[in-house]
Amino acid sequence: MNDATPPYVPAVLDPNRKVVVAIDGPAASGKSSTAQWVAEKLAFRHVDSGALYRAITAARLRAGGQSDEWSEPSVLAVARQVSLRPTERGFIPLIKGESAEGEIRGGEVTREVSRVARMQAVREWVNSEVRRVAEGHDVVVDGRDIGTVVFPDAQLKIFLVADPWERAKRRLVQRLSRRPTDAEIAEETERLVQRDARDATQTVQARDAVLIDTTYLTQSEQVERIVALARGVTSRRGATSPVDGEAGSR
Ligand code: CDP
Repeated sequence: MNDATPPYVPAVLDPNRKVVVAIDGPAASGKSSTAQWVAEKLAFRHVDSGALYRAITAARLRAGGQSDEWSEPSVLAVARQVSLRPTERGFIPLIKGESAEGEIRGGEVTREVSRVARMQAVREWVNSEVRRVAEGHDVVVDGRDIGTVVFPDAQLKIFLVADPWERAKRRLVQRLSRRPTDAEIAEETERLVQRDARDATQTVQARDAVLIDTTYLTQSEQVERIVALARGVTSRRGATSPVDGEAGSR
């Protein structure tokens, strides 16, 4: 049975191996809020990898200078100011020990973050932080390359997509707490499409990911779908012995 067509899904998972649910997708596809909600329902930890890229970008902006002249070592140097404070169900990124949530979600960081995220040494730093805080826990991790690079052996991989207009509308409702105008949605759609293009190299759907188009789904519907898939994984984490072909414990 082990040579079944890929992706090979063993009937019983190693009970000692922690579960990783990887949620990837383009800008504003609802990854973080979905991941957070899924983690709550499953009592897993949530790790938002994008928040780390955002925090590093905010720290680099504080250091000043023209963003198109930022060198990789200068970005890596400020990454050391970024740490993660554990919360009940996840982490808050800190800059120099302080929360900077408003700053990291702001327009300036959003404009510059892709530049920082393209730097290979920065990606390695973020990936090792994400793996470090996930170690020993069942986790839901969201980003762009979680199922391909950070946790290629995640037991459940989701790739969330949605129509750009719908994504822009959701992002604006979240930001403005009111119904956005069509002109505002058009402008935000343009910004999202540009960011998607800048992030294209690292935004990769894993071969064994489940693709979910959320354009016509409510957030609770998409959460329920992922939770049901994840419960399918946890229910196979039985008391029986590990199955051949499964990677060892993390
Ligand atoms: O705003 P949105 O929710 O789409 O993005 P985010 O998850 O907060 O990520 C912000 C930025 O970090 C993205 O635009 C990417 O440039 C970068 N990122 C990445 O390159 N790889 C990841 N695994 C996560 C984020």
